[in-house]
Amino acid sequence: MTHSNIDTAANYLREGRLVSFPTETVYGLGANALSDVAVASIYEAKGRPQFNPLITHVKNMAMAFEYGVHSDMAEKLMQAFWPGSLTLILPRKKDCALSLLVSAGLDCIGLRMPDHPMARQLLEVADIPVAAPSANRSGHLSPTTAQHVQDELGDKVAMILDGGACPVGIESTVLDLSGKQPMILRHGSVTQAMIEKITGTLGKASDDVMKSPGMMQSHYAPDAAMRLNIADVREGEALLAFGKTTLTATRQRNLSAKGDLKEAAANLFSMLRELDKTGAECIAVMPIPMEGIGMAINDRLARAAAPKSSGA
Ligand code: TXA
Ligand code: MG
Repeated sequence: MTHSNIDTAANYLREGRLVSFPTETVYGLGANALSDVAVASIYEAKGRPQFNPLITHVKNMAMAFEYGVHSDMAEKLMQAFWPGSLTLILPRKKDCALSLLVSAGLDCIGLRMPDHPMARQLLEVADIPVAAPSANRSGHLSPTTAQHVQDELGDKVAMILDGGACPVGIESTVLDLSGKQPMILRHGSVTQAMIEKITGTLGKASDDVMKSPGMMQSHYAPDAAMRLNIADVREGEALLAFGKTTLTATRQRNLSAKGDLKEAAANLFSMLRELDKTGAECIAVMPIPMEGIGMAINDRLARAAAPKSSGA
């Protein structure tokens, strides 16, 4: 490990480019968590058909509480297990500057301070929060060596920091502190017994809405109704456009006037919220091509348009 490598990697991250770095669990595919466009490139590179929320890596506890709502429980858990392989899901602060895309539109964020010398140096030097899922293509195994990352995503990243094999080798434990009671969403090397020493007995996942991969039900849904794949705009509707169009409405946004899907992904959650805030009864959305990251955009739009389940 050379300092110049870390400096270069930190600069890439600050510029919005992708850097893969080792953590004690698995290699991460990192991007500046403050930038919608940088975070969109993560989804694009991984080829995920959906927007799953991403873990934001921080250099210390103070940085975590810049973005997540403070609680004594969260602080105690950080003191006990950070740096280390415990990810905490906290409610987003009102003024949270993290991209809405890292939360996949939810009102909570996953935060972790990794325990790997290279990851810690990188976070320290870059001095920004870094969104990083495991650095594999969607549906593949998590990488535990730099070579794995090279094989999977070598052509997608500005740089891979090689820190040797990851000592833990399985992903971090994910503990949700955003609900009524703390709940493990993913098991890892920080065990339930270790956590319960601090929290007391944990709730069972079935007690609450499950937020884990593939089971995300508590998606952000606009108050407005949604009409997808529209060819016209009706009276009173707000328009969410994509690409060149002659359609207009008094309340409108364009996900990407030049028809760029990555830019559209970066704008999706903020523009949906903006149009929803106008009080329009319905948001009419132009067709989004079903290719590349367009699949994740369409998945998210379909969920936002689905009838709202009561209570969720
Ligand atoms: O060990 C790890 O956690 C690795 C290294 C790179 O840190 N990262 C990792 O990230 O495994 P990823 O994206 O592959 O898994 C993130 C998990 C997913 O199960 C996701 O659903 C959950 O964390 N998660 C993240 N943020 C969340 C949120 N706001 N609400 C609910 N679940 C969240
Ligand atoms: Mg993963």
